[in-house]
Amino acid sequence: MSRLLSAMAMIAAAMLCAAPLCAQDEEKPGREIFLAKCSKCHGKNGVPRRIAKGAPNFTDPQWALPLEEIEHSVREGKGEDMKGFKAKLDAEQIKNVALFVQSLKTDALARTNAKPTDRK
Ligand code: HEC
Repeated sequence: MSRLLSAMAMIAAAMLCAAPLCAQDEEKPGREIFLAKCSKCHGKNGVPRRIAKGAPNFTDPQWALPLEEIEHSVREGKGEDMKGFKAKLDAEQIKNVALFVQSLKTDALARTNAKPTDRK
């Protein structure tokens, strides 16, 4: 019986994660901002879309930028296409979205490194 219950719990969890906001990621305050303001260019997962010419792939293990530089680019804009967000986001929102951008790489790494046997 408890097996059935835990199987049902897993299915329920999987259904939650299929929704646009995965329950697990909801704690990250920058995620909502990223989806609202950045994903149309940077993609929902940080892999840039075609319109974002020259934008880095935030999930690439080789890509790294200090938090302050990400915040600066978000505040002031970057290149020709990305406008600054200082009129739309306050300092805390900019920090949160920058932290979220950094976390995309870690999440991607965690996924790649997860062996099938690690899955429960
Ligand atoms: C209109 C499309 C567009 C939007 C919206 C956009 N970006 Fe960008 N972003 C780009 C492009 C294009 C680049 C590459 C610019 C370059 O290096 O010339 C870029 C670069 C970046 C970089 C790399 C900066 C660096 O210093 O190397 C970061 C970080 C970034 N964007 C974060 C964000 C975040 C966070 C948001 C939302 C708050 C956002 N972007 C919204 C298009 C966009």
